[in-house]
Amino acid sequence: MKYTIATVPGDGIGPDVVKVAVAALEAVAKRFSFELSFVEAPMGGAAIDEFGEPLPASSLEACRGSDAVLLGAVGGPKWDNLAGSERPEAGLLAIRAGLGVYANLRPALMFPQLAGACPLKPSLVEGGLDILVVRELTGGIYFGDRGRSADGLSAWDTERYSKQEIERLLEVGFEAAAKRKNRLCVVDKANVLESSRLWRETAKAMGPRWPGIELSFMYVDNAAMQLVKNPRQFDVIATSNMFGDILSDEASMVTGSIGMLASASVGGTRPDGREGPGLYEPIHGSAPDIAGQDKANPLATVLSVALLLRHSLKLEQAARAVEAAVSAVLDAGFRCADIASGMIGEKLVGTVAMGEAVVKAIAEAGK
Ligand code: IPM
Ligand code: MG
Repeated sequence: MKYTIATVPGDGIGPDVVKVAVAALEAVAKRFSFELSFVEAPMGGAAIDEFGEPLPASSLEACRGSDAVLLGAVGGPKWDNLAGSERPEAGLLAIRAGLGVYANLRPALMFPQLAGACPLKPSLVEGGLDILVVRELTGGIYFGDRGRSADGLSAWDTERYSKQEIERLLEVGFEAAAKRKNRLCVVDKANVLESSRLWRETAKAMGPRWPGIELSFMYVDNAAMQLVKNPRQFDVIATSNMFGDILSDEASMVTGSIGMLASASVGGTRPDGREGPGLYEPIHGSAPDIAGQDKANPLATVLSVALLLRHSLKLEQAARAVEAAVSAVLDAGFRCADIASGMIGEKLVGTVAMGEAVVKAIAEAGK
């Protein structure tokens, strides 16, 4: 089998971590005997500098034509003064919309080896944490009508969801819960927002089709609190674009593993009706202050490769091999600065050395 992967290194530490992830992907391809070809698609600040726009049409085409897209991160101070639609982040929103990947899966998983980095009391996270945030990604307020009044003194953004958009996202949420602990919590602000009331209504109507799933609802402000008060109560959280953006950062920090967490954006279709390419990215940002200095932790991007193998290429064995390799390097004590705790037995390494350790672990486990 041969697969085409579009790489979108982006800005800041994006190119550093994508390079490592590509090496991991090549190692796993060798071990499981499949072929890969790569096509690079400029996006974000890098594309602004080279082409004058955050997502050139040629980049989107390259991504659309691929089997899966592997993305680093976008943004940086250099482009912070640009107008909203010209910023690097606009490229990210455009690539998500352009691929039609409406469901963003953000697993917030605590790695037992890094439990010491969790900012919560140990008693709250005993036995580990494993929450999946399913965030709507191509609708809502991030894509709604926005503007400024003529005098510039007022501004607006609009939250708008259709029943169909909500249904297809919740479908992913129910499905994910069915493969996990059978609990789905829909997070909204239905005590205030009409759009949230439509989310709740829609979820309630879908519930009977999933009799094995315990469906619950929570207001977003309460959810933010519950995530630090009793995070183990959650299995799958399904929510809108903005609430998911905010809660997934919180959930990931709570695990103590923010430099370790991957994400998958799925749900797009090709013109011929086949499943479209998924978009895989670490959830951390572009960290421009440490870009190009061999300091970034590449493991979140390596774990994004595992999600890419699982969801887009349907290579479950290969996905597990990547996850096992990450676990093995942590067991061996390798730590980048963001996950180092100074404990005896830890080996502080940079991006490149961490990548080499992962590649070696993938190759060796196959022998
Ligand atoms: C994320 C980021 C992006 C988002 C920004 C960079 C546009 O925060 O992936 O969560 O809000 O979706
Ligand atoms: Mg975010």
